[in-house]
Amino acid sequence: MTAEKTSGVRILGIESSCDETAAAVVEDGRKILSSVVASQIDIHRKYGGVVPELASREHLRQIVPVVREAMSEAGLGMAELDAIGVTQGPGLAGSLLVGIVYGKTLARALGKPLVAVNHLEGHVHAVFLEAYGSGQEPKLPAVCLIVSGGHTVLYEVKAGEEEGSEACAYRKLGGTRDDAAGEAYDKVAKLLGLGYPGGPILDKLAAAAGSAPAPVKFGPTKTRGNALDFSFSGLKTAVLYHVREHPEYREEIRKREEGMAQAHRKLEELLPLCSKETLGLVREFQNAVVRDLVERTMAAAEECDVETILVSGGVAANSQLRRRFAEEARGRKVFFPSRALSTDNAAMIAAAAYARFVRGRFADDSLNASASMRLEEEVMN
Ligand code: KG4
Ligand code: ZN
Repeated sequence: MTAEKTSGVRILGIESSCDETAAAVVEDGRKILSSVVASQIDIHRKYGGVVPELASREHLRQIVPVVREAMSEAGLGMAELDAIGVTQGPGLAGSLLVGIVYGKTLARALGKPLVAVNHLEGHVHAVFLEAYGSGQEPKLPAVCLIVSGGHTVLYEVKAGEEEGSEACAYRKLGGTRDDAAGEAYDKVAKLLGLGYPGGPILDKLAAAAGSAPAPVKFGPTKTRGNALDFSFSGLKTAVLYHVREHPEYREEIRKREEGMAQAHRKLEELLPLCSKETLGLVREFQNAVVRDLVERTMAAAEECDVETILVSGGVAANSQLRRRFAEEARGRKVFFPSRALSTDNAAMIAAAAYARFVRGRFADDSLNASASMRLEEEVMN
């Protein structure tokens, strides 16, 4: 079955897999009419990470106003939508359920089709979404690195069998054995008293470190077996041990932690509270993470013999990662979404939903959250 309408298709995307409640309206999988993201960072900050129960409660509070705002920003009435796309997984079960139940109910009430979307496929579509019409569209096959707080995974992405269906087929090449890269950023920032989430602030501090001496050097991480797997928990533990073994860090960490639970501190406030050693340590940590991500991705591109590399997910916002990929591309084309579309959002969900919509791949009332949903099972046909 294929959808009768394939152009002028307006899909409302809903995303609630982790700690962002998001809604967006996208036309034909390429034109963003609106995109609203309500972040829960302020709620989870004092715990230094996402607390699942608090996340689902907050999604419940936010979902209706966020969808309303997305509709009003798009200047559309609900009746003008062609479908509702909602994240099915992977993610936190309780959080996913809020979006799914809301999406299902809305689709039923409006008599519109419901499309279930894999969150990871959403991250892949975040790259395509912005490239459409630029004359620089990524060519498939490609290797895609999805790197966020919940995922660090490499896929080979191929065009689906159907001509012009915008469908992709995925083969997993490698993934993290333990922590995701974003998780390592968040944990290291927490242990250094630098707040939550860790990625953006560590990114800025590493840039500010300049040529501060390196108090410690981290070698490349090793994973036995699959050379395209990642492992970041050893690196995080190495930072922890280094800090524990050097009591001189203690006082500055305590100072930075003061008041951190209440309010987020900006770079200008944190920088004077960081010694040269801390800055050097942060830079070395980031060097190690970025080196691993870039090396494994380039090795995957070599192995699959592809010219295109896609990088998406929250950590794709990292400035050094972007720079290193550009330096290491060796003639290959590397695509990143804008920073706003790198982190979780619903425009990417609506875009991925469109590819399914045109093939008539609709969900029914039995749709349920799939906390550990995999992408490689999304073999398109
Ligand atoms: O994709 P995302 O919004 O949510 C998940 O699906 O996890 O990614 C959030 C993650 C957090 O771990 C955050 O610390 C990390 O992305 N992150 C960054 C940067 N901005 C966000 N990591 C490194 N550098 C950044 N600039
Ligand atoms: Zn994500």
